Amino acid sequence: MMDDLLGPLRGPETLAPGAIFLPGVAISRQERMMVEIRQIIASAPLRRLSTPGGRRFSVEMTNCGNLGWLSDASGYRYESRDPVTGALWPSIPGGWITFAEEMAARAGYAAFRPQACLINRYAAGARMGLHQDRDETALNNPIVSVSLGVGAYFLFGGAKRDTPVRKLRLLSGDVVVWGGRSRLFYHGVAPLPADEHPLTGVYRWNLTFRRVTVPDRP
Ligand code: SIN
Ligand code: FE2
Repeated sequence: MMDDLLGPLRGPETLAPGAIFLPGVAISRQERMMVEIRQIIASAPLRRLSTPGGRRFSVEMTNCGNLGWLSDASGYRYESRDPVTGALWPSIPGGWITFAEEMAARAGYAAFRPQACLINRYAAGARMGLHQDRDETALNNPIVSVSLGVGAYFLFGGAKRDTPVRKLRLLSGDVVVWGGRSRLFYHGVAPLPADEHPLTGVYRWNLTFRRVTVPDRP
């Protein structure tokens, strides 16, 4: 709760070369975004994917966009269909695309056109281990991350797994963009505390917008 009182003191900050933290920039759209998330998960349900090693993610996931991120025994990849329903992933809402492009442009990536939006839902205790986002070919494009609901600590490291991580508090409406020299930097999310937020109840949601293929398809 103190975090909310401290909100006005937080300002845009460069985290690393090519990486920027834009606190609060999605606050005015967060309620609308939650309505749209609920519409998306009505047709592409949240699920707990398996890692290639056979463990299950603590985070529940789904996707919207022309491509969606998947993980199972055969590895990590993007696919145009949801294996649960057999249908194409729902479209990314138009307002989300404009917003993600605007955030990318603010970070210096004016050509960013997202194809995929991974939707993550964290309940208390859910976490994301340190990893690189490297299942995309279009590595000249950034990742644009939007956080909604319960606050979490984002762990932002460097090019190597053992690079010391910065612990960045992410609150509802915060955006992080990383690309360029930090595109493959290790990052993760510390276990979500048991907390509540008026927008989302006990959950934290995170949207990550990604360009997967080099620009030769929509
Ligand atoms: C991710 O790395 O895909 C998730 C990041 C986050 O939940 O903030
Ligand atoms: Fe990631």
